[in-house]
Amino acid sequence: MKVTIVGAGAVGASCAEYIAIKDFASEVVLLDIKEGYAEGKAMDLMQCASLNGFDTKITGVTNDYSKTAGSDIAVITSGIPRKPGMTREELIGINAGIVKSVAESLVAESPNVILIVVSNPMDTMTYLAHKAIDLPKNKIIGMGGALDSARFKYRLAEALEAPISDVDGMVIGGHSDVGMVPLTAHATRNSVKVSEFLSEERLNQVMEDTKVGGATLTKLLGTSAWYAPGAAVSALVQAIACDQKKMFPCSALLEGEFGLNDLCIGVPVILGRNGIEKIVEIELSEAEKTKLHTSAEGVKKTNGLLEL
Ligand SMILES: NC(=O)c1ccc[n+]([C@@H]2O[C@H](COP(=O)([O-])OP(=O)(O)OC[C@H]3O[C@@H](n4cnc5c(N)ncnc54)[C@H](O)[C@@H]3O)[C@@H](O)[C@H]2O)c1
Repeated sequence: MKVTIVGAGAVGASCAEYIAIKDFASEVVLLDIKEGYAEGKAMDLMQCASLNGFDTKITGVTNDYSKTAGSDIAVITSGIPRKPGMTREELIGINAGIVKSVAESLVAESPNVILIVVSNPMDTMTYLAHKAIDLPKNKIIGMGGALDSARFKYRLAEALEAPISDVDGMVIGGHSDVGMVPLTAHATRNSVKVSEFLSEERLNQVMEDTKVGGATLTKLLGTSAWYAPGAAVSALVQAIACDQKKMFPCSALLEGEFGLNDLCIGVPVILGRNGIEKIVEIELSEAEKTKLHTSAEGVKKTNGLLEL
């Protein structure tokens, strides 16, 4: 199993590290445009191998796509991250050009690749990848909801004063501060609805804290976060590589599902060796449907900024 990660920055390198630690891929290629940067990150990571006990071979290359040939899975993290006070949507001008050319170069070397798009604004970058390259729709996946759901579970556990392993919950919708739809009514603690433990007011606070999870970290760190994003990407890569048939909310191209068309947005999907093997149309309340459709309008507005 060969995995390429484009962008050896904070998220790309964190993702490579988690993939290696889990030791399910034979090879990880890190590619960056900055001379020597991916090579350096790869060497540093390889020097963890004997300490952390993995055999995954990590190599780094400067913008040489021939080294990515035959990749089974490729992750796109190249582009700029946001700074404090910025929205993800403000990154579109620079990142659209990068994501388009990177996706084209990857597919030219690996025509059967499964692509995971991470660069922001992620739902729009995933849609752009669908438009730019000729891959079946199940093979282009946007990562956002897996991270947002992990942040939701963190906030739920905090409110419940419970261990995170007791908590389950999911965030669908657009990967943006206003577009996320944390499904509080579906969230559980050991199969008991969290609404049995938390007041409506506290649950609303959990929801709001989840939606600004990325912005909160960007303010603290001065740039966007990388540990949880890297872990979330590595979980998607593992689900595909190991054919786990796991359910994650991912940005998928919708053609009528949830009453939505011609956009990529976060919905529950089953991930396996074919990428998105199924979009799971869970039952939503009227309020949740309205939130998802409002979120979709926001994503479509950002998609409208693309020069397709
Ligand atoms: N979808 C999500 O949940 C999520 C989470 C966190 C970050 N992000 C996004 O991921 C992206 C990367 O974030 P980061 O913190 O790793 O940024 P970073 O600046 O640390 O790393 C980005 C890397 O991309 C490289 N790069 C730029 N143009 C390139 C090109 N044409 N080809 C190859 N490499 C190129 C840069 O040299 C840099 O090393 C940002 O757009 C950020 O907003 C998304």
